[in-house]
Amino acid sequence: MSEKVYNIIFYVRRFDPEKDSAPRQQQYTIPVEKGMTVLDGLHYIKQTQDASLGFRFSCRMGVCGSCGMMINGKPGLACNTQILDVSETALTVAPLPNFNLIRDLVPDLVPMFGVHKGIQPYIQRRDVAEKENPSMEYFQTPHQLEEFLQFTYCIKCGCCMAACPTMATDREYLGPMPLAQIYRYNVDSRDDAGDARRNIAAESHGVFNCHYAGECSAACPKGVDPARAIQLMKKDLVLRYFGLSKHGKCAHLHKKPDKSSWKPKVEAPAFTAGK
Ligand code: FES
Repeated sequence: MSEKVYNIIFYVRRFDPEKDSAPRQQQYTIPVEKGMTVLDGLHYIKQTQDASLGFRFSCRMGVCGSCGMMINGKPGLACNTQILDVSETALTVAPLPNFNLIRDLVPDLVPMFGVHKGIQPYIQRRDVAEKENPSMEYFQTPHQLEEFLQFTYCIKCGCCMAACPTMATDREYLGPMPLAQIYRYNVDSRDDAGDARRNIAAESHGVFNCHYAGECSAACPKGVDPARAIQLMKKDLVLRYFGLSKHGKCAHLHKKPDKSSWKPKVEAPAFTAGK
């Protein structure tokens, strides 16, 4: 039995900086079957109705973070949003707000990546010689991993930045994504660069500008909770200011096992050819 086909209207926000003085809305009607994503719908429009429509995508599987856009007024990934989960009649598609617009559904994410780069989002160590020529392994307990694991799932799609009311009123605000990533690296027991990142988080457009609306966490398509990271950063900064922080790093080095001396617990029987 063939799937039911719905005729769904896509109201798409269009803007071409070379032709348009202001954004406009364009309407397309497309046949939709169960299983089609919003990104599939946009591809259908581009291939059959309007090749000029601009949107960004890469992985088509919710991993690269390229296809973030407003779908019926909410930030989300076009590639993992089922059209029929949103509507059986009509939906609106628009670019993510709180970013400059390049064209149609393509926001300029470069400033966000610039802020992210500025927080030094990688493990840094004081023992440079050991880092350059490792002789041992860094030991981390499951509990220490658990402290930052969920924040590693961030795909930098910008949905949290688009949802954030502070971003809407303060374009200098660092934003939920970079601030959550500061927390991610600062609580990683292998990292030694917490002080530099804390200085960034504490600056005038940092964590204390967050009013804890929680919209960033509600918008995240990967289930990350940046609002929680920001509140924990605030707590950490205040406790440190009053000299009350108990948070200490524990980046133990463990000797590398000497694998040359390893023996299996049970010796395998000797192989005899010809049997
Ligand atoms: Fe990669 Fe949607 S295309 S997340």
